[in-house]
Amino acid sequence: MKALILVGGFGTRLRPLTLSVPKPLVDFANKPMILHQIEALKAIGVTEVVLAINYQPEVMLNFLKDFEAKLEIKITCSQETEPLGTAGPLALARDKLIDDSGEPFFVLNSDVISEYPLKEMIEFHKSHGGEASIMVTKVDEPSKYGVVVMDESTRQVKSFVEKPKLFVGNKINAGIYLLNPSVLDRIELRPTSIEKEVFPKIAAEKKLYAMVLPGFWMDIGQPRDYITGLRLYLDSLRKKSSQKLASGAHVIGNVLVDESAKIGDGCLIGPDVAIGPGCVVESGVRLSRCTVMRGVRIKKHACISSSIIGWHSTVGQWARVENMTILGEDVHVGDEVYSNGGVVLPHKEIKSSILKPEIVM
Ligand code: GDD
Repeated sequence: MKALILVGGFGTRLRPLTLSVPKPLVDFANKPMILHQIEALKAIGVTEVVLAINYQPEVMLNFLKDFEAKLEIKITCSQETEPLGTAGPLALARDKLIDDSGEPFFVLNSDVISEYPLKEMIEFHKSHGGEASIMVTKVDEPSKYGVVVMDESTRQVKSFVEKPKLFVGNKINAGIYLLNPSVLDRIELRPTSIEKEVFPKIAAEKKLYAMVLPGFWMDIGQPRDYITGLRLYLDSLRKKSSQKLASGAHVIGNVLVDESAKIGDGCLIGPDVAIGPGCVVESGVRLSRCTVMRGVRIKKHACISSSIIGWHSTVGQWARVENMTILGEDVHVGDEVYSNGGVVLPHKEIKSSILKPEIVM
């Protein structure tokens, strides 16, 4: 079975992290976002993943080479010379997706995180006999997504409206599809949108079905949602494999700590924290609702909440970092500095406090 991951865009909403790596390689819960997806695909028997890409393909492929061997899965790239939207890349990758088996293939948006119930989706797809299945989830604010109106008993999609201006429903497209090869006959090789041009037509022919996603879902393409997504992810990890989470007197709630990270005495960590490989957290540090990426050093008595600390950065003694502060790669925050929502570009040194949310260039 094959899968295609849509890896487009410049990831501007996750800057400054995406100034260092393409968005799918930004760490989430201690590993690059895209690895969560590739591992889930491998787990249900996908043998080849095609990355549909229009930006820095060599960086992605070099990085993923190691994982190709480790995970025993073939990872190839289908590169666009111009952005082809969310459907055009499928036409471009047609020869890679179709084989003699006639099996359906998965398509995933690259910045969504969930429990990936892909096995259940295959069963669902077989059960309805339609041409395409999409995963849907309920959200409070549907207008920034594709909204799906479906028959609750048959699961047949009645209409698909991308980013509706008026309320049509609260079940949204979760960006996970299982498509029969015949869907490719509907897509021309040009910039085109699967949400606006393909799904509405399949729905009109009554061949599009929606499965309600069990468990959590989040589009983690922007910092606030990324931090919420971490909370949901860790919560799900607690239910499924709680042994992967940290425990001890210094831990509150759900905390994920890479085994190579070092935590000093008298720290208080959690809830909803991920500490990546090689990090050093010195004594007396307080961390909550934050991600601390690979190679970071947090010095004594620093306090970090609701923030993302990019790779190989340092946070000084008694510093206080909060309110959606995002430190890019290799940023150094001085001792006793306060950051209230600072968004700091890579390789900067912060010597004085950032008193209100702003971008530090
Ligand atoms: N290869 C390639 N080329 N990929 C692209 C391109 C392109 O030109 N344009 C977008 N993509 C990829 C993005 O990287 C992302 O993985 C996916 O296609 C969706 O595109 P976005 O532009 O990020 O769409 P969105 O987040 O506003 O909305 C989409 O996701 C929602 C769920 O998070 C839609 O699919 C909505 O219907 C959906 O609800």
